[in-house]
Amino acid sequence: MTETDPLVLFMPSGKRGRFPVGTTVLDAARQLGVYVESVCGGRATCGRCQIEVQEGHFAKHGITSAEEHISPLGAKERRYAEVRTLPAGRRLSCSATIKGDLVVDVPPDTVVNAQVIRKATSDRLIERNPAIQLCYVEVDEPDMHKPLGDLDRLNVMLERDWGFRDLLVASHLLPKVQGILRKGNWAVTAAIHRDVETDRPHLVALWPGLHNEAYGIACDIGSTTIALHLVSLLSGRVIASSGSANPQIRFGEDLMSRVSYVMMNPDGREAMTRAVRQAINELIEKACIEGGIDRQSILNATFVANPIMHHLFLGIDPTELGQAPFALAVSGALDIWARDVDLSLNPGARVYMLPCIAGHVGADAAAATLAEGPHRQDRMMLLVDVGTNAEIVLGNRHRMVAASSPTGPAFEGAEISGGQRAAPGAIERVRIDPATLEPRFRVIGVEPWSDEEGFAEASETTGVTGICGSAIIEVVAEMYLTGIITEDGVVDGTMAARSPRILETGRTFSYLLHQGAQTITVTQNDVRAIQLAKAALYAGIKLLMEKLGVDSVDTIRFAGAFGSFIDPKYAMVLGLIPDCDLAEVKAVGNAAGTGALMALLNRNHRREVEETVRTIEKIETALEPRFQELFVNAMALPNKVDGFPNLAAAVTLPERRGGGSDTGDGGGRRRRRNRE
Ligand code: FES
Repeated sequence: MTETDPLVLFMPSGKRGRFPVGTTVLDAARQLGVYVESVCGGRATCGRCQIEVQEGHFAKHGITSAEEHISPLGAKERRYAEVRTLPAGRRLSCSATIKGDLVVDVPPDTVVNAQVIRKATSDRLIERNPAIQLCYVEVDEPDMHKPLGDLDRLNVMLERDWGFRDLLVASHLLPKVQGILRKGNWAVTAAIHRDVETDRPHLVALWPGLHNEAYGIACDIGSTTIALHLVSLLSGRVIASSGSANPQIRFGEDLMSRVSYVMMNPDGREAMTRAVRQAINELIEKACIEGGIDRQSILNATFVANPIMHHLFLGIDPTELGQAPFALAVSGALDIWARDVDLSLNPGARVYMLPCIAGHVGADAAAATLAEGPHRQDRMMLLVDVGTNAEIVLGNRHRMVAASSPTGPAFEGAEISGGQRAAPGAIERVRIDPATLEPRFRVIGVEPWSDEEGFAEASETTGVTGICGSAIIEVVAEMYLTGIITEDGVVDGTMAARSPRILETGRTFSYLLHQGAQTITVTQNDVRAIQLAKAALYAGIKLLMEKLGVDSVDTIRFAGAFGSFIDPKYAMVLGLIPDCDLAEVKAVGNAAGTGALMALLNRNHRREVEETVRTIEKIETALEPRFQELFVNAMALPNKVDGFPNLAAAVTLPERRGGGSDTGDGGGRRRRRNRE
């Protein structure tokens, strides 16, 4: 190409280059690394390579783009437009050639190929580079004088037209190749799987004629819920999403009880493996029905899970994960046949399991890391997924560490006298008036707050049945802010003189949150359970901060359902997380699911997560002598020694009482100064 060749700019990627007149737009895109789909190999039959020409003067780019700068509709395109339909303004980039300067739009729509997919579950755009490629070829008919087998002649064409050499062939195709070739009148579409660029490509599926559909599944197997997305591998579009409770719950609510079930029951592992695989198959079925997709068109799937779910899904006994040294049977990424894990997809479908970080920090945390990208930035990011075991990742592009902390089930409402799962009737928000100590709260499924008009009627059907995780955090934090509990977490009995809501219960005191069909109190034991859980989480985080030698973080991401409901301010008042600019504390929802989707749609993300997991340093909190001391400090609200300057600027924190507990140089003094 020369300086006088036409300049072509591709949007939305912004990639540009000069190309000789007569170059097809598809070739230009390929040379620039702009992803444009092509199944038919430029025969103008698949319609996947559509683009649009933007007309006008683009001063910023110094380009005047006009319709005359692209070749007029040729015979092949006209034929395609007649047989299928070519929307107005759309061109087939494999046929249209460059005549002058152009601005070319690769439409990010859902109908045809897209370089960039729709917004996924998060607001990020995922560039596509899937491990599956569909390739249409026309194979020579058999010739007595050249006795090359049907499959061998197919391979010749896949090498000539698509550059795939040394193809491996899935064995289930061997008895079918002849029939498919003849049915397609010697024209077939092959699905080639190649994950790692240097690996041998693998022929995994074959259809007669032109086949224009390939789908994938991105699945997050959580201890409580399983969530999956059905995605078009050609357009990147999420076709359907479905979720269900993990049926393993019947074997045990939390992970350790499921490990115990395996240990106690001879067929326990098989039963749980069967249950989770069956649930996934049912979810796939549901998504396929919703999306109107034949599950035989599903060729690739990615899975993320915590280590125990990961092992049980793969049929591996998780007993070793229940005790030190928490040995994983396999920690690296896996690429296996879907049929080997009993998934009824296309018989050639492949499954990619993201790598686990450590015995307690799973592929779900690895996927959340991929999605949030601490390793792609300079800022110090803390990524926390709170469950019965909190998974914690801390770091930036220079260094990363990870650990898990045994928070227990308190944040999920277990071990709390009025605790329950987030469901209609559960209190989800709580405020306490600092003057009167009267509470007001909000209930799931009920619009008005408890002190607003219409609450009684609106809550008639749901009732007020308990407190869920987010409200437990808020009520304990509000009790602290209003002086009902001290910084050491003691419900202050002297407050009984101020409010009839402070109840004496034996040797301790409780706070009456609601009296109705169900009486809901927050007891001293409840506060203790929350303190223990938050201290475990904070101590784990602090341990990682000490490992990295930092005393603050720049940004905090809460992954998982729990994080979506808790208010960052209250989480910080409680000392669940370290001090940080409140605007930088964000819930990111199912980041693990987003990571699985990224790995499904772009194999570069697989290499990225594998490399990142290799570099993350794993810390085993149970083996760290400092953990205990950090834990004890973290029992206080928000913390015995650590300062919370950002929080203190946003919230008026109570005066320290009792003097002795404020041994540090940070929090207490700084807070007092704040009010002076
Ligand atoms: Fe198939 Fe252009 S590549 S129509």
